[in-house]
Amino acid sequence: MQKILVTGGAGYIGSHTVLELANAGYTPIIVDNFSNSEERVLQGLAQILGHVVVCHKVDCTDAAALQEVFSQEGDIAGVIHFAAFKAVGESVAEPLKYYQNNMAGLVTLLQVMEANKVQNLVFSSSCTVYGVPEKLPVTEETPTQKANSPYGNTKKIDEEILQDIAASGNYGIKTIALRYFNPIGAHESALIGELPLGVPNNLVPFITQTAAGIRESLTVFGTDYDTPDGSNVRDYVHVVDLAKAHVTAIQRLEKPASVAFEVFNIGTGQGSSVLDVVKAFEKASGKPFNYKIGPRRAGDVPAIYADVTKATQELGFKTSLSLEESLASSWKWQQQLMK
Ligand code: UFG
Repeated sequence: MQKILVTGGAGYIGSHTVLELANAGYTPIIVDNFSNSEERVLQGLAQILGHVVVCHKVDCTDAAALQEVFSQEGDIAGVIHFAAFKAVGESVAEPLKYYQNNMAGLVTLLQVMEANKVQNLVFSSSCTVYGVPEKLPVTEETPTQKANSPYGNTKKIDEEILQDIAASGNYGIKTIALRYFNPIGAHESALIGELPLGVPNNLVPFITQTAAGIRESLTVFGTDYDTPDGSNVRDYVHVVDLAKAHVTAIQRLEKPASVAFEVFNIGTGQGSSVLDVVKAFEKASGKPFNYKIGPRRAGDVPAIYADVTKATQELGFKTSLSLEESLASSWKWQQQLMK
């Protein structure tokens, strides 16, 4: 059973990927500093899998500690790198924290991978690299643009670092960068899911917390955009579908003919507005939902959704769950959290 190191493996997308790796016959090894995750995720994973997943409490910017993990584990077949900060607003206020963690973490990881002759890397990127796209849907050929937050810039620069490493031909490291659209939902068991710290920034956890009575009401950030109903349009992809894309990316890197740097959009290919999400959530939860219309949020892209042709053809990627089913799984997870 091949070992795959999953940095940020106790996080939201990381934990679902750990599960899918195990389901596909790999041995996932978690590396996480628990700065934005909770150890109870490990219990959820163990409950689903019937065994404990090995976890090292290590920060990816700590080269010596990371090296120790590689030495202890021995043969590592590949790495999936999730560990990064991701709050857009916080990154505007504290850019240094973001550049330090998200870039130093990647560079340190690459150095340790090279020293240990580990060659295959799947990198957690974001559709934020497309900025405000001129044409929709966005393909991988859509030009990247100046990022509208330091967080977004770290993803853009990290992709460039990986591209330079590949182009040099000197490190033997091959990367697939997955550009995620908006991940939502939770594993059907409701034993793992998203655990936002404090007030959620993202739409779906804010909705489920409102429905659970933790928040009073959702504010829809603007209905005066040039979109069908005036609210922002996004591509909401179920986290389990997204997690599975990481497994196929690892399998693709294992093929001898795989190229040194590739990017793939991972979304559903469908745009949904904020108001569509609210309506779908009402259906999924079976009860009316309390929201109000507010002003625009600074920095929001009016509309973005993916063309997933490349991921469909090359990775065999497909989405198995509708928006309503995805929201139903988020709601089930929220209800489980309340118990
Ligand atoms: N929204 C609301 N009210 C809220 C929260 C969100 O109306 O309380 C709206 C936003 O304005 C946006 C949509 O819901 O239109 C989705 O917002 P999220 O914050 O959930 O997601 P974003 O699309 O803003 O951000 C996501 C990722 C970021 C990434 C970005 C790139 O969370 O990491 O996509 O576009 F940088």
